[in-house]
Amino acid sequence: MGGESEKWVLMVTAQTPTNIAVIKYWGKRDEKLILPINDSISVTLDPDHLCTTTTVAVSPGFDQDKMWLNGKEISLLGGRFQSCLRELRSRACDFEDEKRGIKIKKADWGKLNLHIASYNNFPTAAGLASSAAGLACFVFALAKLMNLKEDHGQLSAIARQGSGSACRSLYGGFVKWIMGKEENGSDSIAVQLADEKHWDDLVIVIAVVSARQKETSSTSGMQDSCKTSMLIQHRAKEVVPKRVIQMEEAIEKRDFSSFARLACADSNQFHAVCLDTSPPIFYMNDTSHKIISCVEKWNRSEESPQVAYTFDAGPNAVMIARNRKTAALLLQRLLFHFPPHSDTDLNSYVIGDKSILQDVG
Ligand code: ADP
Ligand code: DP6
Ligand code: CO
Repeated sequence: MGGESEKWVLMVTAQTPTNIAVIKYWGKRDEKLILPINDSISVTLDPDHLCTTTTVAVSPGFDQDKMWLNGKEISLLGGRFQSCLRELRSRACDFEDEKRGIKIKKADWGKLNLHIASYNNFPTAAGLASSAAGLACFVFALAKLMNLKEDHGQLSAIARQGSGSACRSLYGGFVKWIMGKEENGSDSIAVQLADEKHWDDLVIVIAVVSARQKETSSTSGMQDSCKTSMLIQHRAKEVVPKRVIQMEEAIEKRDFSSFARLACADSNQFHAVCLDTSPPIFYMNDTSHKIISCVEKWNRSEESPQVAYTFDAGPNAVMIARNRKTAALLLQRLLFHFPPHSDTDLNSYVIGDKSILQDVG
């Protein structure tokens, strides 16, 4: 291992966008492997606005694995980071940089320590899927550094073990996480349904209703739902399988009316499961509810829906407008009814597009 001096550092930086589910994942059948109780479908967002940037470095000079998130050191000891690191190290390949005289053999990767610095350009743990962008970027950047030969599907199965929703951020465009049947999780992977160029009329508008960290993390929220909600089983077995088929068809045909109807209904049912949990979980707040009413009223006044809304495990609204003209009208309405920094705690709007994963060298 190493060149003449042992002072080298190898570094890779990657950028990964977040993704927002339009058919939600909520509930695990295996906590450790992170295997879900239903399939889910998401849209990967524009990395210019909502993304994680992670730099990973390896050096014989590092005496332990270390990680910083948004400038603060965090522990890598949690089971999830360790699951990803174990999977990545076991698949790492030989690396050679002749110019710098660096040679790392496959077996050396287990002995070398890593430093990882990650930054989210949007609120962390506030229901805008920071765990999705964060863990996908963690896996993607380390896979580059360690010279893994695995494709995005195989990497998605590793990212899944960091945070379930992260497996869907390995692809741009529209993505499906197939729940899989195998006990070892080998078939629980993400697949791309359509790339970011498909249906490029759509415009995504996000209302950052609150950037505060949520009280109940997604992980513990869905654990409580699985233990106490009766609705969750009905949802996973009877409702979602049908919706997934219909949503795939709506995406393929660019059928906005069906897309909006399904996305809104699924978001509302997910939050109904949260309310059906004991003690109930309130991810949405008054402003979120008022935004839903505003969009519903508008959609009902038109011949067909103009805007779809969906809320993850937090109060922030993700709205998908039919086209640019509708997006402009939506913003006009939102700014009129919900001006940022008014008596609500709404603080900004973000406008974006669907997009792709970036390797920034
Ligand atoms: P969110 O709705 O933002 O996904 P979660 O409760 O699912 O909220 O997850 C938040 C947790 O994800 C954070 O507390 C942190 O542990 C992890 N996380 C977020 N961003 C990153 C990142 N860039 N790198 C590593 N872990 C991250
Ligand atoms: C509401 O992927 O954050 O955003 O797997 O425990 O890390 P863990 O949970 P996470 O849950 C996401 C839930 C959701 C819906 C979704 O993204 O599908
Ligand atoms: Co999350």
